[in-house]
Amino acid sequence: LFAGPVDFVKGVVAMSGLPEPDRLEVCFAGRSNVGKSSLINALTGRKNLARASNTPGRTQEINYFALGEMNRFLVDLPGYGYAEAPKPIVAKWQALLKSYLAGRQTLRRAFVLIDTRHGVKAVDEEIMDLLDRSAVTFQVVMTKMDKVSTAERDANIEQVKAALAKHPAAYPELVVTSSEKGDGIETLRTIIATLV
Ligand code: GTP
Ligand code: MG
Repeated sequence: LFAGPVDFVKGVVAMSGLPEPDRLEVCFAGRSNVGKSSLINALTGRKNLARASNTPGRTQEINYFALGEMNRFLVDLPGYGYAEAPKPIVAKWQALLKSYLAGRQTLRRAFVLIDTRHGVKAVDEEIMDLLDRSAVTFQVVMTKMDKVSTAERDANIEQVKAALAKHPAAYPELVVTSSEKGDGIETLRTIIATLV
C-alpha cells in the first residue's frame, strides 16, 4: 500500500468540501505540534508531503492524501489545544475537526497521537470522549519517542494505557513511534494496510 504513489488531494475547510466518501480513510488527530504531519511524511517516505513545523497550529485545514492506486485516504487534521493563531480562526477549525471526527462515515480508524514526553492531557480525553460517543474506533500512536529516556517512556505508556481503559472506542494496543528515527513506522504501515 505504501510502496505505490501518494498524492495530495485537497485541503478542506468545511464539511461540504470533503471528498466523495468512495473509499476507506484513516486520520491523524492530536494536540497541536504532537507530530501528525511529520508522521504522514514518515509513513509515506516523503519529506515534505504534509507541511510540518515547530509552530503549534501549522495545519489549519483537513488535508487529504490518496494512497496506493487511490484506494485509501490518509487524512492530516489540524491540531487541538493551544495553537499560535487568532482565536476566531482556531475556533473555526476546531469545530470543523469535531464535525469531521463525529460524522465521517468512511473513517475506518482515527489515530490519536500522544507525545511520549507528555502522556494523555485533558484535551486528549475530550477528543477520546467524542470518538466514544461517535463510535469511531481509535488507536493511540505515541510520538517523538526519540526525545525521552526509556524509563520516562515506560511510565508514560502506563499512564496512557490506564487512560485508554476508560474508553470503549479505544483499540487497546498502542504504537510507539519516532518519525525522526523511524521507530514504529513499519508497524503502523502494516496496521493501516490491513484495515478493511
Ligand atoms: P500542527 O499541524 O501544528 O497541529 O502540528 P503537527 O501535529 O502536525 O506536528 P508537526 O508534524 O508539524 O511536528 C511538530 C514539530 O515536532 C516539528 O518541529 C517536527 O520536526 C517535530 N517532530 C515531529 N515528530 C518528531 C519525532 O518523532 N521526533 C522528533 N525529535 N521531533 C519530531
Ligand atoms: Mg500538522
